[in-house]
Amino acid sequence: MHPVDGSSTDDPVALRDLAGSLARDAGRIAYAGRRAARDDGLGETTKSTGTDIVTKFDRAAESEIVAHLRGARPHDAIVGEEGTADSGTSGYAWFIDPIDGTTSFVYDLPTWSCSVAVAHEGTMLAGAVYVPPLDELFDAALGHGARLDGQPIAASTETDLALALVGTGFSYHPEARRAQAERLARMIGHVRDVRRMGSAAIDLCFVAAGRLDVYFEQFLHSWDSAAGELIAREAGATTSNFSGGPADPSEMLVSAPGLHGAFVDLLTAAAPESHAT
Ligand code: IPD
Ligand code: CA
Ligand code: CA
Repeated sequence: MHPVDGSSTDDPVALRDLAGSLARDAGRIAYAGRRAARDDGLGETTKSTGTDIVTKFDRAAESEIVAHLRGARPHDAIVGEEGTADSGTSGYAWFIDPIDGTTSFVYDLPTWSCSVAVAHEGTMLAGAVYVPPLDELFDAALGHGARLDGQPIAASTETDLALALVGTGFSYHPEARRAQAERLARMIGHVRDVRRMGSAAIDLCFVAAGRLDVYFEQFLHSWDSAAGELIAREAGATTSNFSGGPADPSEMLVSAPGLHGAFVDLLTAAAPESHAT
């Protein structure tokens, strides 16, 4: 692959373009591999639970991105879902989810993505999410807005909770899923409808593009939300935890600004007994 050169820059726009180039190149390789593979040629194994799948394409995509970053930016930290944990000395840290939505990938559904983001001293500077089956690239640089295929995007202007289209997702752990579904059951009568895409990064970008009004999920990891949360925020969405405090992968709420307060109230009112605060 031939990513853009971002070897020594600290410019968020150049870092965004590097993240986009890495995500697009790795995503295209994975997509071509998926198209060529028979269903029994995915090299599937499981990780945290029997339903948490990883394929040879997840590992290959992470390897592609990491190999480039180690060459171009050898002093940066890298955190990748498939095991990369490089500690750096530059203050820059990259967060990679090589295939976000591996279950969709395995089932040949179009809702999976490649997510790459970079932070400096804990501040997210740039991120990109590429969706290979749709050939769509979402990206953002801090203070420079969010884009879809190079064009500015904006979160929805919806203000009526009853008309909100809401995305969410579930943990791989059965007990956590039950509690998440319990909360969802208490909420669903108060909103327009619910979508479960299968990729947190896509959910976040779809809020950024106004394709969803709200997205919420618990128990994410840094690599799931690093790029998408910045993209949504740069598109004008409001991001927080479920109580309205700072957004965190363990509790991620991203919404149209006009729905945020009402959605915090709804999440709180719908908290399952065992998780009520
Ligand atoms: C998963 C997806 C899914 C979300 C899960 C994530 P993975 O990531 O983002 O939408 O609901 O919480 O773990 O395992 O496909 O990279
Ligand atoms: Ca993920
Ligand atoms: Ca993944």
